[in-house]
Amino acid sequence: MGVSSIQLLSVLLVCAESTKQTEGSYALKMWSSAEQALREQLIFMSKEIEALRNDQSLMKQKQEDMTQAMQHCTEMQAHADMEVNITSVGNGHIFTLEENDDTDEGFDPCKRYKSLNQDWRATNYTTKNVYCDRSTQWNGWYRLFYRGKSIQMPELCVKMEMCGTRSPLWLVGGHPRKRDGIVTRKVCGHWNSNCCAFKSPPIQVKACSGNYYVYKFVQPLACHLAYCADVNTLICGKCRRNEICTSKDKIKWYCKKSKRRGKYKLSLYI
Ligand SMILES: *[C@@H]1O[C@H](CO)[C@@H](O)[C@H](O)[C@H]1NC(C)=O
Ligand SMILES: *[C@@H]1O[C@H](CO)[C@@H](O)[C@H](O)[C@H]1NC(C)=O
Repeated sequence: MGVSSIQLLSVLLVCAESTKQTEGSYALKMWSSAEQALREQLIFMSKEIEALRNDQSLMKQKQEDMTQAMQHCTEMQAHADMEVNITSVGNGHIFTLEENDDTDEGFDPCKRYKSLNQDWRATNYTTKNVYCDRSTQWNGWYRLFYRGKSIQMPELCVKMEMCGTRSPLWLVGGHPRKRDGIVTRKVCGHWNSNCCAFKSPPIQVKACSGNYYVYKFVQPLACHLAYCADVNTLICGKCRRNEICTSKDKIKWYCKKSKRRGKYKLSLYI
């Protein structure tokens, strides 16, 4: 995972230098929490491009150059954990390099999930009608919502008779990080002061860009058990892209700037 700024820049520079079709204007944008080094590289790069732009002799290059550059970029992409997207616009081309989130082959559950928006699943909901997730035909991946807002499963034992059920189900071992991909986690149901009285079948979990999680729920062993949604994690839905949602005690959650390197997207119009 991850690609250094230098690598990235070299991809971009190669793309910029070998295309040489510099008609029209270009725009250079950066969304970044990356390091100073990247910024410096970018300033250097803008100067390089400026030089290219002013050099009239470079203006009349063949289409072949472009084709080659594209090929080169595509090859580089295979080695990097980045996505290179080249779009032609008029006479110009937009190169976009983006961190590649789709590490799974084929389909990404972060993009294809069903929304589970049921107030009664909330950890602060005292059970009135008793629900049981055994009676649901679970199929595929789910994202939890509370009144339309993104929410997560609790990582701590929940009191009995909450979450619209008798024995609330919580996630053991916490949520994964994005770079963990799809993980398997145990699920426990609380009963009679035993936080794991019911060892429900494990589920798969994945962290997604945008601070939410998807869960591959399965039928619990018995009734009345149901998957919970922790209202304390509602704040996580408000975290920005460069932030992660974290908690020391698993009760109070807050957004924190991500230390992760290389969270950026670059666009270059040549
Ligand atoms: C590439 O970028 C263009 C313009 O930003 C966008 O419309 C297109 O969907 C992108 N393609 C991919 C595969 O991301
Ligand atoms: C549960 O928590 C949410 C979010 O803090 C709040 O809006 C709601 O009123 C609470 N529900 C109960 C029954 O306390």
